[in-house]
Amino acid sequence: MEPEHEAQVEECSATEETAQYKTCNDIAFYRRQKLLKSGNCLFHARLDTLSLSGNEAKFQIFNADTKVFLLVEVYSIVGNVVRIKINELAPLKPRYEVPDVLVKEPLTQRLIVLEKDENSITLSPGENGPQILITAKPFQLDISLQQELVLSVNSLGLLYFEHLQPKPEQKTSAETNESSAAKSEKEADNDLGLWEEKFNAFCDTKLSGPTSVGLDFSLHGYEHVYGIPQHAETFQLKPTEDEEPYRLFNLDVFGHKLHSPLGIYGSVPLILAHKPKKTAGIFWLNASETLVDISQRAVAKPLTIGIHQDVKKVRPEPQTDVRWMSESGIIDAFLLLGPSTYDIFKQYAQLTGTQALPSLFSLGYHQCRYSYDDQADVEQVDAGFDEHDIPYDTIWLDIDHTRGNRYFTWDKTKFPNPKRLQQRLKSKKRKLVVISDPHVKVDEKYYIYSQAKARDFFVKDSTGEDFIGLCWPGESCYLDVTNPLARDWYADQYSFKRYECSSDVLYLWNDMNEPSVFKGPEQSLPRNVLHHGGWENRDLHNLYGFYQQMATADGLSRRSAEKERPFVLTRSFFAGSQRYGAMWTGDNMAEWGFLKISIPMLLSISISGISFCGADVGGFFGDPEPELLVRWYQAGAYQPFFRGHSHTESKRREPWLLGEENTKLIRNVIQERYLLLPYWYTIFYEAHVTAKPVMRPLWVEFPEDVDTFGVEDEYLVGNALLVHPVTDAEATAVTILFPGSGEVWYDVKTFQRLQARQTMTVSVTMENIPVFQRGGTVIPKKTKVGKSSGWMSEVPYALQVALDSKNSATGELFLDDGHSFAYQASNQFLYRKFHFHNGVLSSSCADDRGKYKTKCVVEMVLIVGMKASPSSVMVCYSDGTEKVIPFKYDAKTCVLTLENLVLNVGNDWKVKFS
Ligand code: GLC
Repeated sequence: MEPEHEAQVEECSATEETAQYKTCNDIAFYRRQKLLKSGNCLFHARLDTLSLSGNEAKFQIFNADTKVFLLVEVYSIVGNVVRIKINELAPLKPRYEVPDVLVKEPLTQRLIVLEKDENSITLSPGENGPQILITAKPFQLDISLQQELVLSVNSLGLLYFEHLQPKPEQKTSAETNESSAAKSEKEADNDLGLWEEKFNAFCDTKLSGPTSVGLDFSLHGYEHVYGIPQHAETFQLKPTEDEEPYRLFNLDVFGHKLHSPLGIYGSVPLILAHKPKKTAGIFWLNASETLVDISQRAVAKPLTIGIHQDVKKVRPEPQTDVRWMSESGIIDAFLLLGPSTYDIFKQYAQLTGTQALPSLFSLGYHQCRYSYDDQADVEQVDAGFDEHDIPYDTIWLDIDHTRGNRYFTWDKTKFPNPKRLQQRLKSKKRKLVVISDPHVKVDEKYYIYSQAKARDFFVKDSTGEDFIGLCWPGESCYLDVTNPLARDWYADQYSFKRYECSSDVLYLWNDMNEPSVFKGPEQSLPRNVLHHGGWENRDLHNLYGFYQQMATADGLSRRSAEKERPFVLTRSFFAGSQRYGAMWTGDNMAEWGFLKISIPMLLSISISGISFCGADVGGFFGDPEPELLVRWYQAGAYQPFFRGHSHTESKRREPWLLGEENTKLIRNVIQERYLLLPYWYTIFYEAHVTAKPVMRPLWVEFPEDVDTFGVEDEYLVGNALLVHPVTDAEATAVTILFPGSGEVWYDVKTFQRLQARQTMTVSVTMENIPVFQRGGTVIPKKTKVGKSSGWMSEVPYALQVALDSKNSATGELFLDDGHSFAYQASNQFLYRKFHFHNGVLSSSCADDRGKYKTKCVVEMVLIVGMKASPSSVMVCYSDGTEKVIPFKYDAKTCVLTLENLVLNVGNDWKVKFS
C-alpha cells in the first residue's frame, strides 16, 4: 500500500467522527438562501424596459428592497425549449458563464408580443410554440405549450441573486465607520460566510464575496421527478423538505454511503419530470456548487391560462417545486417542454450533444484491477481468459504501472517492455487501457511537470503560486484543464511521439478528476484556487473532469489524425461529458446494496444524456462472496459499460478464481454479452444519432403507465430487452412488472410467452438473471463468440424475431468497421432494417447514405412466438432468385428456426413463411 494511500485511509477513517464532507448547514450560501422564505418576492419586472431585438427579449427586474437591477433575457429555442438568463444589469466585473458545455449557440426564434396589460405581457414565437407569460409584480414567468401550463418560474418568489460588491475594506471611511451595531452585523455576516467561510480546519476566503444565485420552478401536474446525478440514491427523486437537499458538487467521497444526497464524483444539473404522456425538463447551466430542493404538493388548477386567467378552481393536481441554489455564476436555465419523453432527450442533446459512438471493443468486457503486479501478471491474466474460454477485450493498468505515479511513464522494473505487451495484446485483437490522472508529481525531472510549469499550466493558489496538494504521487500540482492552451498541450502528450511506448491499442482512463486532493477541503481543491482567466475554482468546480476527458479524447483522436475513435473513461463528469466517452460510478463496495443501487444510479445517468455508463463489477472495495460476484457479472453484462475492477487490498477475483461452477456461470453471461454485441452497438448508434438512452427506465418506453414510474429494479436495454438483475442474496424469485398493456414478452432462454400488462413472480436459479425480449422487436446477434470482439467481425449474424400480438416485429442493425470515424467522414456504414409482417421477414436499407461493404451474412433466424408451423419457407434473394429452404418448428416453444442461411447482411432480401 502506498504511503499516500495510507494517508487517505487515515484521513477518511477519521471522517466518521469529524465529518469530512459538508452537510447543507455547513454551506454558507445555502444558509443565506434559506433565509428567503417563499411567497415574499421582492422582485418586480419593469415591463416598460422590454425590448425585442433579433431573437432576444430583454427586460429589467429590480429588487424593491436592495434596489439592485437585474437583466432578464428570454429566448425561444427551436424545438420547444425556452432559455431564461438572469444576470446583474451592471455587475462590478463579469460573472462566470459556463463555456464549452453547449455544442453550439442554440438556434433561436423571434418572439412576438401576443397579449399585454399593465401587469403582464405574453410572448411567443408563433402559434404552435411555447407561450411565455411575464408577470411584473411580483415577477413571475409562466410557460405553457399547446394551451397547457407546463412550468412557472419564481412562482414561490425564491429568486435570489447576490450582486457583486466591493470588499468591505474597500468601502469609503463613511461606510466603514464602525459602530457596535455594525460590528455585530459583521459577526452575523461572518456566520453567513459572505467573504470568508470555515469548514473543519479550512478557511475559504472569497475573492468576490457572496455571489450566490437561486430560483424556483413549479412543474404543473408532475409528481415524478428524476435526474440530477450523481448520488448513491433512488432513481425517483425524493422531496427534500426537512431533509438535506440534493448536492451537485463533484467530490471523491471515499467509502460513500448508500442513500445519501451528497454529491459524488460528477454532476449533471438536469431534472426531468414525467406524468402520463408528458415529460418536461429543467437544465440549470451552472458549474458551481449547486443544491436542489424538491417539494411536492397538491394544488388547485386554474381553468384557463394566460392574462385573462379564470380564478375559479377545478380539481387538485400534483405539483413539484424545484429550487436550484448555486454558489456563483449567473442564472441560465433551459426549460425543456417536451411534450414527449423522447422530445426531451432530443431537446437536451440539441444543447449538450449526444453520446459519442463507442468503438465496438469498448462494449465488450473489460478486466481491471488496482493494480496488476507487473507485465508477467498481466500476460497471465490475459492468457487466463483464453484458457477458460472467456471472451474479453481490454485489460487495464492502474496507477502502479507508472514510475512513482508519474503519468505517461512506465515503471520499467514492473513493465520492462510495454511495447511488447501491447503488440501481444494486438495480436490477440485486444486492447490496453492505462490510467492518467490530472495531478502531476512535483518533480523538476519529470517532463510533464517541468513543461507544464514552464508554460504556466497549473492551477494557482490564492497568492498566485502553483497550488500544491497531495495525491497518489505525494506533492502534486493540478493541470489547469480549463485553459484551452493547457488542454491543447495535454492532448498533445497523448501523441505516439510524446507518449513513450504508446501504441494504437492503448486507450485511456481519467481518474481522481473531481479533482481529488488528499487532505484538501472535502478531499478536493480549495474553492479559492485560481484557474485560467482568474476564475476561482468555486465558479467552475464541476467542470474540471469534463475538461480533462475532453482533452484526453481530443489527444487520442489527434494521434490518429482524427481517423480513430477515442476511448476515455472518466470518473468525474458534467453535462456534455457524453461527447467524450464513458463514465463509471466510482468506488463502490462489494456488498449487495451497492449492486442494487447501481441500477437506479445508472438510470439517472442514462436519462441525463450519458449512455455509456457502468459500475465496477464485483464492487471495488472488499471481497464479494461468490454468489454476489456472479450476480454482479450477470447484471453488469446487461449494463452499458462492463468492467470488473477491484481494490489493491481485495483478494484477486479474475473470473476463474472462484471454482469451476462460478467460472461457468460468469463465462456464460460474458458470452451472452458478446453474442449480443451487434444489438448493443446498434442501440449505441441510436443514442448517438437520436439521443435515445441505451439503458432505459420503463416509463421512457411506457410513458402512460403510472405503475412504471417508480420502477428502479428493472429496466430496458434499448427498446427490446427487459432486464431484472437479481440483487439479493439467496434469491429464489423476483417480482417483475411486464409493462405495456397488450404487449407480449418472451423469456430469452425458454421463449416462454408472457402477456402484459401484469406483475409476476418469476423464479430464478444461479444460472441467469431474468431477461425478456419484447414482442414486436428484432434483435441482431452473432452466432458464435470469439476471444474478443475483434475476432467476431466475420462471424455470421442471427436475427431473433419476437412477434407481437399482431404477429409483427421490427428492428435495426448498425455496422461499420467498429473503430474509425469513416462512418461519419465517408459514409462507411450500413444501417439495416428488418421487418416481419404478414408472414414475410424482409431486410431493407434504413439509411441509403451507408456505403459499407461486408461479406458478413445472416446465417440464422429465430421467429419467436409463431403460433403455428408454416408449410413452407422460401427465400427471395436480392437478384430475384427464390429458393425453398428447410426449417425447424418447435410447437412447444412456438419457435421457428432457420439455419445455414447465406443472406448478405447488406443486401435486400425476403423470407416468406406460408
Ligand atoms: C480511485 C479510483 C479507483 C482506482 C484507484 C487507484 O480510487 O476510483 O478505480 O483503482 O483510484 O487509481
